[in-house]
Amino acid sequence: MDSGYLNFKLVKPGLLQSLVYLEETGSTNEYASANKLASDTLVITSIQTNGKGRFGRKWESSPGKNIAMTLVKNFIISIDEIHNVSFYSSLILLKTLQKLCKGYSTDFSLKWPNDVLLNSKKIAGFLLGTKDMSNKEKRIAIGVGVNVNEQNFGEEIRYTATSLFNETRNEFALEDIVISYVTELYSELTLINDCNSLMSQWKSNCAHIGKQVKFRLLVDSEEKCAFVKDILPDGSLKLVSDDGSERCYFSGEISLGIRN
Ligand code: BTN
Repeated sequence: MDSGYLNFKLVKPGLLQSLVYLEETGSTNEYASANKLASDTLVITSIQTNGKGRFGRKWESSPGKNIAMTLVKNFIISIDEIHNVSFYSSLILLKTLQKLCKGYSTDFSLKWPNDVLLNSKKIAGFLLGTKDMSNKEKRIAIGVGVNVNEQNFGEEIRYTATSLFNETRNEFALEDIVISYVTELYSELTLINDCNSLMSQWKSNCAHIGKQVKFRLLVDSEEKCAFVKDILPDGSLKLVSDDGSERCYFSGEISLGIRN
């Protein structure tokens, strides 16, 4: 990873306050939570050895092949709007990857609450951490992993995960994706406070609204079939069960296909 180039493109023009490049670290999210970092600091690594995923899962990434980074940023936002940062971050990544992959036959979509899919398989995931919840200005650590040039996926995720390389047979420069994503992220920040527009853009790229899915509330709980009716402005997922009952969920996991 060329951290000098990242500095030149992101810190020098004043977009980021600072960049922490770690050749190797356990988890960029853990680094961000253990260290006092200024707002607008990007922590990025080439080798993440203990990446954290949702539901306490591991996030695996081969050395030098993918993006593993955490952006620490203050937001003036109320507690009940924090989910907007998560929807915003995934929407912007989808738009960035769509632009970078123009010319390839790629179909990017979003899966609740914040996965980015490529050709119906997961290509990126987000794990957000929060601090200073009582302050008007809230510190949010946006952790994102993007499978870029990965070719090896473990048994458990072989059929549900993919990378840009696997879908396009092209190697991408990690720095170009990071620079485009961070630049795009800072260019549309007002969208976070415009819930209607944010959610309508998110939903129009969503892979599963109006579809039958499998849903599980917790990692070990039973999967149930349900129809996805909507995603509400409060970020919850509105499901209709087979018996016709409707319920909203603030967390949980959707599976889209037989093996997804
Ligand atoms: C998910 O399960 O979908 C969330 C994956 C988040 C992975 C990223 S990689 C960079 C950052 N550091 C971590 O330990 N996790 C996040």
